[in-house]
Amino acid sequence: MSCIEINQLSHHYSRAEQVLKEVSLKVPEGSIYGFLGPNGAGKTTTLRLILGLLRQQSGEIKILGKPFAPHREALLSKIGSLIENPSVYAQLTAMENLKVWQKVYQCPSTRIEEVLDLVGLGHTGKKKAGQFSLGMKQRLGLAAALLHQPSILILDEPTNGLDPGGIVEMRELLKTLNRELGISILVSSHLLSEVEKLATHVGIIHLGQMLFEGTLDELKKRQQQSSGIQFDTGDGAKALQIIQSQHAAAKLENGQVSVPIHDRALIAELNRQLVQAGIPVYQIQAAQNDLETIFMNLIK
Ligand SMILES: Nc1ncnc2c1ncn2[C@@H]1O[C@H](COP(=O)(O)OP(=O)(O)O)[C@@H](O)[C@H]1O
Ligand SMILES: [Mg+2]
Repeated sequence: MSCIEINQLSHHYSRAEQVLKEVSLKVPEGSIYGFLGPNGAGKTTTLRLILGLLRQQSGEIKILGKPFAPHREALLSKIGSLIENPSVYAQLTAMENLKVWQKVYQCPSTRIEEVLDLVGLGHTGKKKAGQFSLGMKQRLGLAAALLHQPSILILDEPTNGLDPGGIVEMRELLKTLNRELGISILVSSHLLSEVEKLATHVGIIHLGQMLFEGTLDELKKRQQQSSGIQFDTGDGAKALQIIQSQHAAAKLENGQVSVPIHDRALIAELNRQLVQAGIPVYQIQAAQNDLETIFMNLIK
């Protein structure tokens, strides 16, 4: 089942510009869904709409199978979120900050220590939140979002501005919350490298439109399909002739013949034919086509 399902969601801030164009996406229960797109793609707008922070103009939003609008309060009690920078009281300790939210959320005060330990801030004692690193503030915000034991977390670029250590800590924390507490996580990012290390599922948005949705494995498969093998030989033109006679899709690129095949026996056979024709083969390699290239091709 999907814990979040959006259908045909469009949005405009001004009449002139539509910033979301019939966005549909499904966050499977138990997944970490990486919502990936360059700056300005429409990620924050989408997340704000899901949380009811913006007025919905069209389309459909369902949380845990129920339409959002008529069940707003009940559904929001199942969601924890971190959208802008966390609102942290600088003059209060982590514990005191959470006491404020605990009263707002009306959850038992025993939860405070639990969530502090969960996010790794249990040791901060009398230190004021104003003296926390950005990573610690971000984790404090996450602790507040976890107080009411949500089953879904919605996080907008939670690693933005963090140093490398803070990024790793946040990523590991999210994985732990997902794995050990079964919390489904919808997390946006403009960095493929981040999503790749964290997500089980990926949705790619660009200029307000969804370009891809699937598992991380499906995205990688797509990458493999559009990749292939490159032959670096002493005579590109002649090598192309020979390889094209076996595989019409072969192309000459920068003096190397690239051909979209993965069959090992066929690669060996092509190599044999090249050598037999007296063409020196210097190198046979997989074409450079990493996920970054796929992403760039998608958003071109
Ligand atoms: N409050 C706003 N008023 C007008 N335009 C906005 C507002 N917020 C965002 N936009 C525009 O909507 C588009 C999508 O923005 P946003 O959802 O913030 O993208 P992302 O989070 O992917 O960077 C951008 O072109 C942005 O300039
Ligand atoms: Mg944003």
